[in-house]
Amino acid sequence: MEVKNICCIGAGYVGGPTMAVIAEKCTNIKITVVDLNEARIAAWNDEDVNNIPIYEPRLNEIVGNRRNKNLFFSTNVDKAIDEADLIFISVNTPTKTYGTGKGMAADLKHIELCARQIAKVAKTDKIIVEKSTLPVRTAEALKSILDNTGNGAKFQILSNPEFLAEGTAVEDLLSPDRVLIGGDSSQEGQKAIEALVNVYANWVPRERILTTNVWSSELSKLVANAFLAQRVSSINAISELCEKTEANVNEVAKAIGMDSRIGPKFLKASVGFGGSCFQKDILNLVYISKAFGLNEVADYWEQVIIMNDHQKRRFSKNIVQTLYNTVSGKKITFLGWAFKKDTNDTRESAAIYVADDLINEQAYIALYDPKVSQKQVLTDLDYLDTRKSDENEKHITSYNNPYEACKNAHAIAILTEWDEFKEYDWEKIYDSMLKPAFVFDGRNILNGEVLKNIGFVYQSIGS
Ligand code: NAD
Ligand code: UDX
Repeated sequence: MEVKNICCIGAGYVGGPTMAVIAEKCTNIKITVVDLNEARIAAWNDEDVNNIPIYEPRLNEIVGNRRNKNLFFSTNVDKAIDEADLIFISVNTPTKTYGTGKGMAADLKHIELCARQIAKVAKTDKIIVEKSTLPVRTAEALKSILDNTGNGAKFQILSNPEFLAEGTAVEDLLSPDRVLIGGDSSQEGQKAIEALVNVYANWVPRERILTTNVWSSELSKLVANAFLAQRVSSINAISELCEKTEANVNEVAKAIGMDSRIGPKFLKASVGFGGSCFQKDILNLVYISKAFGLNEVADYWEQVIIMNDHQKRRFSKNIVQTLYNTVSGKKITFLGWAFKKDTNDTRESAAIYVADDLINEQAYIALYDPKVSQKQVLTDLDYLDTRKSDENEKHITSYNNPYEACKNAHAIAILTEWDEFKEYDWEKIYDSMLKPAFVFDGRNILNGEVLKNIGFVYQSIGS
């Protein structure tokens, strides 16, 4: 079977970029990305392609190339489902905030709604692809809903988790380390796998397209994120030991990373990992393990999260301690709010938690991030529900200009590793600050020696 018409439910950080790249590479396939969020779809359709809702390097260029040719963004979910022969489900699967599994399990309500809607609308056979990250064995539930509520159309369910990282989404999609496709071993299942393989084979070398059973594919996504996050927590744990022993975590990371069995990537000590995936997916892995009675397995992985929470907290504690045990009434400047560079995504960003701690200590935070709006910053803080919204608003102010943000500050904290921070005129910044002027580099991106020579008290992670 040849795929000619694709629908993707969910126009978010995964659905948008992934479909844009498929559209770019498969110009003979019509792709419609649908979402219930009208504002988001309107932004994807904005005449000025620089206003699309997600910032990713090169994404605007690709969307500009393919939009309204073979790439469409729409709120008409039913129509897109009806017309498609293959449907990606790419909706959000956040950690549950209520009921059984609250704070641990993945919330699958959006997934179930999609399945019910597909079953209701579909008149012809379709391939359903799990693109969202899901607990292992979700395909079983999807199949049950589709088979029991449909109108006789047949469905094949595939798992095709997405491994892109934000900030490098386009690059990752254009040349992925691998594409993983899990499907049923039946003849129909194998045909469905082949159909999706053929889509990716338009640009991904065959040997990088890996096919497995559905359960291995679903589980591999959770495991990949758990392993990646585990590396960050491991190096962050060592960063604290380095601070006590005059070892330097950058040197340790280099020394261990040169062992080809360990490898050099994902060993950057930081203020803690953020993003919408790592914490959610590990919590889910912990929850699933506990559900099977595997308490040691659950405890092992939970420690990755415990270490990350500790890393964020000790960063804010250190700021308070270093500023003579009080930040009450002091202006502290944050450079960066996004959870990593080159994205406007702030979900679970370490900056949110550090800001919350410092506002508890009555600090006033001035903020500059090249891609994040004041509105988003307030939404993030309000979501924690630590204090009233007007209190948050009083304690945090976003600036459009980093030099203005730093003026009269007691301290600067680097929360995101945006490249432009390295290029600033740090002498000018020093001159405009209160003295002693402190820099807390939560990303180890600045040259400490240069800053110390200017006069800053400079502290980084793990040295
Ligand atoms: P997102 O919140 O940016 O986008 C999800 C979109 O789905 C939202 O716009 C929402 O309005 C829409 N939606 C929800 N229910 C819907 C419904 N019933 N009908 C139509 N639209 C609906 O989320 P995201 O970051 O794109 O993540 C999507 C999935 O991909 C998650 O499972 C996530 O774990 C996984 N994932 C994310 C990343 C990442 O880097 N963000 C990477 C790999 C995998
Ligand atoms: C992650 C996975 O990498 C990706 O494969 C998956 O599809 C989604 O989740 P993402 O969260 O977008 O991607 O970014 P990633 O580059 O993994 O960074 C996650 C967090 O870890 C960021 O806050 C980053 O700053 C932090 N990090 C990463 C470190 O602190 N040190 C490192 O060495 C690497």
